[in-house]
Amino acid sequence: MSKFIINGGKTLNGKIAVSGAKNSALKIIPAALLSTELITIKNLPEIEDVERSFEVLRDLGAKINHQGNEATIDTAGLNNTELNAKMADKFRGSIMFVGPMLARFKEVKFPHPGGCVIGAGGRPIDLFLEGYRAFGAEVEEVSGKYYNIKAKNLHGANYFFPLVSVTATESLMMTASIIPDKTVLKNCAMEPEITALAEYLNTQGANIQGAGTPTMTIEGQEKISAGTFTVIPDRIETGSFVIMAAAANANLEITDCNPEHIMTLLQILKKIGVDFTFGEDWIKVTSGNRPLQAHGIRTHEYPGFATDLQSPYVVLMTQAQGTALIHETIYDRRLIWTDMLSQMGANITMCDPHRIVTQGPTKLYGKRLMSPDLRAGIALVIAALIAEGRTEIDNIYQIDRGYAKLEERLGAIGADIERVE
Ligand code: EPU
Repeated sequence: MSKFIINGGKTLNGKIAVSGAKNSALKIIPAALLSTELITIKNLPEIEDVERSFEVLRDLGAKINHQGNEATIDTAGLNNTELNAKMADKFRGSIMFVGPMLARFKEVKFPHPGGCVIGAGGRPIDLFLEGYRAFGAEVEEVSGKYYNIKAKNLHGANYFFPLVSVTATESLMMTASIIPDKTVLKNCAMEPEITALAEYLNTQGANIQGAGTPTMTIEGQEKISAGTFTVIPDRIETGSFVIMAAAANANLEITDCNPEHIMTLLQILKKIGVDFTFGEDWIKVTSGNRPLQAHGIRTHEYPGFATDLQSPYVVLMTQAQGTALIHETIYDRRLIWTDMLSQMGANITMCDPHRIVTQGPTKLYGKRLMSPDLRAGIALVIAALIAEGRTEIDNIYQIDRGYAKLEERLGAIGADIERVE
């Protein structure tokens, strides 16, 4: 298992560029199955989850040419309707192949997606299944392990999501895009990655209206043509770097990003005293008076405060004056990692599985830690960068899933960070 060794307390400054968005790339790769023509993807992040997605697609029979940040995908000859269980079990993103496969082949067999530890009950997929049933498919669950979905004919649907889900919205949107009928989806998630996917599919022949709002209307088409998609900047990486700069009181310019996508975070940072300016595709954080003022947050679907930024924000609150109530509303197990932050010296009280109170400012000290999941992992990296002494973070596969070449990029702005195999 690889680990990071970080000697904290170094001055960070310079420029850091944001990669393409993981949660956009993980949808656009399976979306290639909607077309039998050549798909080109640019600005791909060089992360583990992208590799896993290509592995699944290759296993299905797709021809993929992937070099650095670009890939071409040809699924013309593909007719495999079963997702490789071992591969799908490795990451939650495997669920994104199901909707396009069902739409194209009218049948798909897949295991319950594996992956991450943040949701109770293994992260349910009931909304996806309910949606496929609404399209006229029959869903068979075999001994709680895998699913067979089949349909003689798929038809359009009027589906209301009982709760807002990003990947379920994207999945049903993709399926509907090639069912030649009208579908209306209500109570949809509104994340920028959804809008980007819809805009792209529309340029290739789909007819999806309303992406980025709660109601989407999709007039399914016979054919999605060849196309080129440039992955949008990763808003969670952007937010993570802005928070890192604020926590380290650094002078740091974050480039190749879209500040519009993290406005909720930026408003809060302004309120608590972080000095920054921003333009169309950059954010410049400048060191200023400390301590910052503590401020509570409640995670919410977009455009609210992103759950994926909750963990880095908790680290920032350990450096702020006063108490902050952090309320995690999306996932049941996404605050457990804060126990490790307490071990580093943070003053954190857990009220219940969804709420903690931080009291700051507190000095943090290096420790031996284990990254439990992707976002907790980056939070531990930020904590280690501002801590006194040496921190070891084990299980950094979890961090590599979503942050490309982190040691190189952080090293270039002054961090003392090393990857040890
Ligand atoms: N949920 C259900 N049933 C379902 C689907 C979801 O009960 O069928 C619940 C989940 O358990 C959760 C809530 O709905 O409590 C919302 O989860 P959502 O479905 O929106 O999450 P997701 O689509 O699985 C995406 C991102 C996550 C991000 C969330 C919320 C991808 C690949 N993943 O997940 O990203 O946290 O939206 O914004 O897009 C990450 O990048 O670290 C990450 C976890």
